[in-house]
Amino acid sequence: MESTIINSMKKRRTIYNLGKELPVMKSTVEDAVREVITYAPSAFNSQTSRAVILYGKEHDWLWDLILSKLLAMVPDPEQKKQTEDKIAAFKAASGTILFFEEMATILQLQEQMPLYSENFTLWSHHGTGIAQFSVWTVLAELKVGASLQHYGNLIEKEVLAHFSLPASWSLTAQMPFGSIMQEPGDKDFLPSEERVRVIS
Ligand SMILES: Cc1cc2nc3c(=O)[nH]c(=O)nc-3n(C[C@H](O)[C@H](O)[C@H](O)COP(=O)(O)O)c2cc1C
Repeated sequence: MESTIINSMKKRRTIYNLGKELPVMKSTVEDAVREVITYAPSAFNSQTSRAVILYGKEHDWLWDLILSKLLAMVPDPEQKKQTEDKIAAFKAASGTILFFEEMATILQLQEQMPLYSENFTLWSHHGTGIAQFSVWTVLAELKVGASLQHYGNLIEKEVLAHFSLPASWSLTAQMPFGSIMQEPGDKDFLPSEERVRVIS
């Protein structure tokens, strides 16, 4: 089946080996993120997704912070070295997109619609996932590599304070992005008959 969206989805991969030279202007990446955040759907059109794009010393600050948190938790020297190498690869990227959810809106909706109270946090997770996947896919279309990382629980407080962001924003993911220095290997797929059933 020929579909531009499916073709873009096929291009999106996890790229760990990233470099600083973007194949497009920074403003193209920024416009893409703005468009995705605008057009990605959300429960009750609550529009709770937020994104912050970091470059240069702010991008470095983020990965230095994550490394310091991880090193404090890893006693073994060999593991420390592995952790340093892993985080150095993210820091080698051109920038990082931080994804957040605006929890104040979610709390407000929970109060307005107590019947759905429990679902709003779940739908917020769905919403941020849709936004993350869409950004990742659009970056792939632009030949910008990226991966999806989750260190939010370790760094959220410092990140909100350092970038003067609202205390009501919850950090859901970090997406380092940059030039593709090494293509990923092949990926296995389960047979689609196992995952998709057509019933009529
Ligand atoms: C919800 C979700 C969470 C993920 N979390 C991480 C993560 O914390 N660190 C990481 O390196 N990759 C993470 N990934 C990337 C997956 O490991 C990757 O997408 C999967 O192995 C398929 O490979 P591909 O992205 O190249 O298609 C995550 C992906 C998804 C969809």
